[in-house]
Amino acid sequence: MLLAKSFFPGKVLLSGEHAVVYGFPALVSSIDLGIRVTVGPCSGFEVESDFNDEAGIIDKATKLLGGESNVKLRVESELPSGSGFGSSAALGAAVLDALGKYLGKPISNDKLYDLTLECEKLAHGNPSGVDPAAVVYGGLIYFRKGKVIERFKTNKRNTFFVINSGKPIESTKDMVAIVDKRMKSEPEYIGRVLSEIGQISFDLRKALENGEDLEDLINRNGELLEDLGVVGERAMLMSREMRSLGFGVKITGAGGLRGGSGMMLCCHHEIGKLEAFVKEKGWEYIKVNVG
Ligand code: MEV
Repeated sequence: MLLAKSFFPGKVLLSGEHAVVYGFPALVSSIDLGIRVTVGPCSGFEVESDFNDEAGIIDKATKLLGGESNVKLRVESELPSGSGFGSSAALGAAVLDALGKYLGKPISNDKLYDLTLECEKLAHGNPSGVDPAAVVYGGLIYFRKGKVIERFKTNKRNTFFVINSGKPIESTKDMVAIVDKRMKSEPEYIGRVLSEIGQISFDLRKALENGEDLEDLINRNGELLEDLGVVGERAMLMSREMRSLGFGVKITGAGGLRGGSGMMLCCHHEIGKLEAFVKEKGWEYIKVNVG
């Protein structure tokens, strides 16, 4: 084969980040943007990439398949790194899939999930597996650690705005470690917060299935993430302003403290109002349809 190509989408977490690491449910959806990898021949090993692969996912994925010789990889990303869009999972899956095809050893979805999770450990340390689930299987998913992956349908199409609160300085691994530390020093309090986040995922699934308004559940999840200590000042200020106007808002992904907190998921039952507000603010955003 001369060239092999793969495209895998990013993801957005509707609820449950961090709690999902401790076995509580999360809701996640794949998005239209993603990462494309093309594999072709060359003498030696070459990577041409517009993606900042700080965690070394490309190297790890290549080694897992024994594809380090006579191969050129080209990586084109529509996802910013480390902002909550599951870029490390999308990158891992796309490299593995394209390389598998190129080497004449195509990988099944279940195997691809396991290998992508292996790569994720470089970026996350102790990943729940929620990002690889959305990236590899796609669609809207109710997820629990240990590979409970349930696709479900919504009563109607829901539009969310995903707003950029700024790139986090900390990695996902750092943010997961912050929660782990608090879990060890304040197990009862943090345990209660995580458990309530888990309940929200459960309730949000029902609300989506029944076509109900989502603002209150999204806001409560957002406040609990603030209680966990994973949301920085800028994202908190943006959230407070939006909540005072009746919008639903939470960070989506691991968050961040010293810089931005990555992407924020925002919703309102009158989506035009949210759109007008975000445009007036001049905030950077993308629109995501779920269901
Ligand atoms: C990152 O997208 C979500 C976290 O819950 C980490 C994980 O589940 O592996 C913060």
